[in-house]
Amino acid sequence: MQKNDTTPYTSWSHTNLLDISQLNLSDINTIFSYATMFSSLHDVKKDFSTLLKGKSITLFFAENSTRTRLSFEIAAQKLGLYTQIITKAGSSIAKGESLQDTVLTLQALKTDLLVFRSEYSGASQYVSQFISIPLINAGDGKHAHPTQALLDLFTLAIHWKHSFSGKIVLIVGDILHSRVARSVIMLLKMVNITIRLCAPKTLIPRWMRSFQAEYYTNLKEAAEGVHAIMALRLQTERQDKGLIPSISEYYKCYGITEHILSRADPSVSILHPGPINQNVDIDAFLAVSDKSLILKQVESGLFVRMALLYLLLEDTILSPEEILL
Ligand code: CP
Repeated sequence: MQKNDTTPYTSWSHTNLLDISQLNLSDINTIFSYATMFSSLHDVKKDFSTLLKGKSITLFFAENSTRTRLSFEIAAQKLGLYTQIITKAGSSIAKGESLQDTVLTLQALKTDLLVFRSEYSGASQYVSQFISIPLINAGDGKHAHPTQALLDLFTLAIHWKHSFSGKIVLIVGDILHSRVARSVIMLLKMVNITIRLCAPKTLIPRWMRSFQAEYYTNLKEAAEGVHAIMALRLQTERQDKGLIPSISEYYKCYGITEHILSRADPSVSILHPGPINQNVDIDAFLAVSDKSLILKQVESGLFVRMALLYLLLEDTILSPEEILL
């Protein structure tokens, strides 16, 4: 993606991030320009801890998480923010308190921003009706995971040196249950990357088959000439409805193996949002091979989330250049 001619930071106007559909190309460039600045200075241990000093955020994770929760927490610490963490099991929701009362309580405790993950699709939109502080959707049911999509595209942008021309990305797996797929498809389309989807018919919504992307059921055909393969986690906790014959048969048809990679472009990279089902979604050794960008995705998550926290919490947004002065 090319940087815009306009000064990117001046166009940012969002007070929350619930879904990729809120963003335009200028917003994406803005987020990436700050993420690039934060990442480029990380190795020289540049101190950003005065940027948002004195503010606080609450991480409300009603569903389990390793990467998203920790990267928000570490991003916040690097920016000088205080963080509070609350889980569903550890909150009064477990005693029957409503979601509305819970988020109003968090707001009354003067947190400056809420990062919210829920198992319910649409939960972030619902919560946004009650609170006036900034809100980031950290994944809601099958609906959306906008920060994951942004870090995925940021990883590809760095790897492909910001040139997406002619690139084909194949998304494989449990698209039906994947909030990552919904968000990432929307984002890749915005930057004109060609998208192929590959899944058994039972693991892709019918409405998505025809118009969102090229759709395949045969992985060997789908992998032909692609530049990146994004494997999705088979959501084994949701496979009790006979959607696949068995996990081992799913792996035989849809697992990412060396044989599948041999069909792709020689430069092919592998992505996975995590957590991985080893030897189901992808062969374990490929996930740590030199083709894999999976840990780069995790790194990108830190810098993209630093960028978002800065943009959503700073009252007077400085340009990346001004921050470095
Ligand atoms: N990709 C992702 O959301 O991972 P976590 O569930 O570990 O946060």
